[in-house]
Amino acid sequence: MKYKILSNQWRPQIFNHIVGHKYVIRIIKNSLDLNRIHQAWLFSGIHGTGKTTIARILAKSLNCKTGITSKPCRKCSNCISIEKGNFLDFIELDAASKTKIEDIRVVLDTTKYPPMEGRFKIYLIDEIQMLSKHSFNALLKILEEPPKYIKFILATTDLNKIPETIISRCLHIHLPYITSNNIFNYLKKKLKKENIKINKKTLKIISNSANGSIRNALNTLELAICSTKNKIINTKKINKLLGIFDKKKIFILAENIIVNNIHKILNILDNIEKIGIQYNNIVSSLIIFFHNLSIVKITTSKKNYIINNLSEYNKNIYFLSKKISFKDIQIYCKILIQGEKYMKYAPNPRIGIEIILFQIYQYIKEKNISNKICL
Ligand SMILES: Nc1ncnc2c1ncn2[C@@H]1O[C@H](COP(=O)(O)OP(=O)(O)OP(=O)(O)O)[C@@H](O)[C@H]1O
Ligand SMILES: [Mg+2]
Ligand SMILES: [Zn+2]
Repeated sequence: MKYKILSNQWRPQIFNHIVGHKYVIRIIKNSLDLNRIHQAWLFSGIHGTGKTTIARILAKSLNCKTGITSKPCRKCSNCISIEKGNFLDFIELDAASKTKIEDIRVVLDTTKYPPMEGRFKIYLIDEIQMLSKHSFNALLKILEEPPKYIKFILATTDLNKIPETIISRCLHIHLPYITSNNIFNYLKKKLKKENIKINKKTLKIISNSANGSIRNALNTLELAICSTKNKIINTKKINKLLGIFDKKKIFILAENIIVNNIHKILNILDNIEKIGIQYNNIVSSLIIFFHNLSIVKITTSKKNYIINNLSEYNKNIYFLSKKISFKDIQIYCKILIQGEKYMKYAPNPRIGIEIILFQIYQYIKEKNISNKICL
């Protein structure tokens, strides 16, 4: 039997199985049950949060033989064909590969023919932001007054690139990031059902590193499962797979940044290169670390009994937070965030990270000199 990757194998087929997006799903379900159906829907959000998945369930809901419903039966021939991907009245189009007006015109020309099997002929246009200006104009015309039997579902990962005129003609629904907590609970439930054993800590790392995308989480999980034959996936393995720098090592790097020991910093970077960790991950880990340090500074009370109850690692964080001002942490975060954005322009990632860390080094050096002058 052909193997289906986890993200396809586990793709939800009904609205109730969608993770997160509670509010959004309620809107969609209500509009179906109340029969208040827009002619064009626009789903925006980062990769792997459910745009295509929701669009396909919506297509079933609109064409299910039991009637327009938020609970498509999944048994009628229309539902089955949509799930199999061979329903003639559900046309999926990737705008990234069909950006030109000639391409889009060919597709839009078919809107004049009514549906062959279903109630509606549905066009799902993915990555809509890739369309050319002329293609957007052609789409705009049909969006204004489509035939009654036509429904459009547009999806984009970059809303800023969609003309306002298009957005205003659609029912725009934004799918926010899925929280790592939601991802964690989802994976836990799924893995239990599938009898795959992964410890909680490792699952937490996978959920946190997914950056709000379930597809990312499932792809990492797939890698993790394939990386071992004995089905034991430990934290070390997953860190290596994800190119994540161990949190204790990030602590040491941050500590040396704070005390401005540039030789030690370069030394650590050399070690990172040997392990094969990606430099972008180091920068984002540092941003998270310094941000957490700000939170520790704001929230941790000076009371001894609280500090004594902290874990060894959190105690170290607490003492490190005493070595730096809140204002300086914010300045480091700003340099790191800006640097991360421009890292891709550096000749290579190593130079990129060095440029960022040299900026912090220079900032501390100048601050120390001006402090001395003031004395
Ligand atoms: N909200 C969600 N609930 C449950 N599973 C999800 C969700 N979002 C994504 N997935 C999983 O991730 C896979 C990919 O999701 P989908 O194709 O819907 O993402 P997308 O938002 O369309 O991404 P892209 O922008 O890359 O096209 C699905 O097959 C499913 O397994
Ligand atoms: Mg998609
Ligand atoms: Zn059905």
